Amino acid sequence: MKQRTTYCGLVSEQYKNQVVTLFGWVHRRRDHGGLIFVDLRDREGVMQVVFSSDFNKIAHELAHTLRSEYVIAVTGRVVERASNLVNKNLATGMYELQVEELEIINKAIALPFTLDEAQGVEEEIRLTYRYLDLRRTEMYRNLKLRSDVTFYMREFFKQEGFLEVETPILTKNTPEGAREFLVPSRIHERSFYALPQSPQMYKQLLMASGIDRYVQIARCFRDEDLRADRQPEFTQIDLEISYATEETVMQIVERLLHIVFKKAMNLDIPQKFERITFDEAFALYGCDKPDLRYGLKIQDVSKLFEKTELKFLQTALLQGGKVGALHVNQKQFTRSELEGWVNKALNMGATGLLWIRFNETGEVESPVAKFLPTGFLQQIQSIIPTIKAGDTLFLIAGKYLESWTLLGRLRCALAAELDLINDDEYRFCWVTDFPLFEFDEGEKRWNAVHHPFTSPQSGWQDKQLGNIKARAYDVVLNGYELGGGSIRIHNIEFQKQMFAFLGLDESKMQEKFGALLTALEMGCPSHGGLALGLDRIIMLMTKSKSIRDVIAFPKTQKGYDAMMKAPGEVEEKDLTLYGLKYLPQKDNKK
Ligand code: AMO
Repeated sequence: MKQRTTYCGLVSEQYKNQVVTLFGWVHRRRDHGGLIFVDLRDREGVMQVVFSSDFNKIAHELAHTLRSEYVIAVTGRVVERASNLVNKNLATGMYELQVEELEIINKAIALPFTLDEAQGVEEEIRLTYRYLDLRRTEMYRNLKLRSDVTFYMREFFKQEGFLEVETPILTKNTPEGAREFLVPSRIHERSFYALPQSPQMYKQLLMASGIDRYVQIARCFRDEDLRADRQPEFTQIDLEISYATEETVMQIVERLLHIVFKKAMNLDIPQKFERITFDEAFALYGCDKPDLRYGLKIQDVSKLFEKTELKFLQTALLQGGKVGALHVNQKQFTRSELEGWVNKALNMGATGLLWIRFNETGEVESPVAKFLPTGFLQQIQSIIPTIKAGDTLFLIAGKYLESWTLLGRLRCALAAELDLINDDEYRFCWVTDFPLFEFDEGEKRWNAVHHPFTSPQSGWQDKQLGNIKARAYDVVLNGYELGGGSIRIHNIEFQKQMFAFLGLDESKMQEKFGALLTALEMGCPSHGGLALGLDRIIMLMTKSKSIRDVIAFPKTQKGYDAMMKAPGEVEEKDLTLYGLKYLPQKDNKK
């Protein structure tokens, strides 16, 4: 077979009047009888190739049989197109190739979807035929960017003295809050490996080993409910540094992201990211991963309603709750739009959403207008000075945690609807000072907010569990948690105390974390680190709607590999090898 001269998408001036060989897929074929035009496509783009009996009779004959997605090789001369025939939408649009030789390398049956219509095709079908879907330019670009980014990251880490170390995939459970995937062992009866939720314990053990600066592009596995930004297997840029403080880790991550955004996208992101405490983030944005590309901050207007006659506000405040408000001045809503927002809030789980609109003369319009005092606009201005006639307030009252979470979600929905989001902006921030523990009402016990290896901030011995802050930090971009990390506990007594707070007795501690506890006793440097979600970074860089679009072979929303049909059933006799047996039970496919 001939050798390829260049990619279809890279034909340029240098090949003018040269004979070249191109390989690729038949993207489109236009048959004008005497002349047959084929858009030949490869990963770099499209080149128009032309068949005519003037150039070669046999090739022209054969070209009649070409169909979409046939794989062919063509050899011929690159010629400049007449100026009126130049295709400005194509990088190679100045040229065409006059085919002298055609070889059909492989035929293609009728496809389940054409590449041009793939966008509109049901995702499960795209995923079933993922190899076809990946032929699309957009998908190729996503994978290319991903490859570039990991390359630049490796380059950065190498320069910074990090060692890339691989840690096991068959391992034991690591407590990161999600359910584990289990792998039964054939040799060890009644025993299972767990797939790692992250290499957390291994990387800490590598600090005890003297690696000093560790990094890994690590595959992680979590059996959790899937969302657009979550997959059951995903990739972390996982790092750990000996003797690190929060500053050490944050500076490394800022430099890393700065360099990678510059090299991969030619984008100058700030050298230093804004910082916001967890408490502040929650008070202003109702979440711990605020989208800072727009304002629309939550305002605490509880004070205004201290003497209100409105029962539901009264009750909320008497029960120690708060009244939070979102102030919208970008739009004057119609009544039916306002009702629409009430319904949206109800769908989000709110028990109600109160709207108050000020008309052109500043008079209040609201379902509860008659309960609001005269001069309400002026009163509100004492808290929200920018509010004026024509503006609208949305209010939610109740327990702080619940109502602020709802306001946070409403804030995002309003921003999207009101077009307040600049899609080209990348707003990074650090969220710091997280609580160390959170109380699980269902299980009636304390859980670690990050993970149980995270150091408490100083003075923790004198505080109640719920008030202890962690030496933890998240890096957030445009409302997504890109990564999270912490300074770890390196003192065995503190570590045991932490496990005890989480309800583990000595024997459980040894069973689950024996290796780490012993390593801490054998001379372990202080250390800290962080893990970035690679898939999320690429999703945001490519402005994709889901991380599935930046993973070559992702699972569906239900955790199913539609192409390989995994997970799949195993025959009974194979199960017995592992000492396992099916229970008579529900159909759990897909
Ligand atoms: P954490 O659990 O915060 O920390 O995870 C770090 C980052 O990994 C990404 N991520 C995911 N991406 C896609 N699908 C998922 N299911 C998924 N889950 C997490 C997120 C997240 O910010 N061991 C600690 C890190 C440390 O302390 O060093 C850890 O795993 O972008």
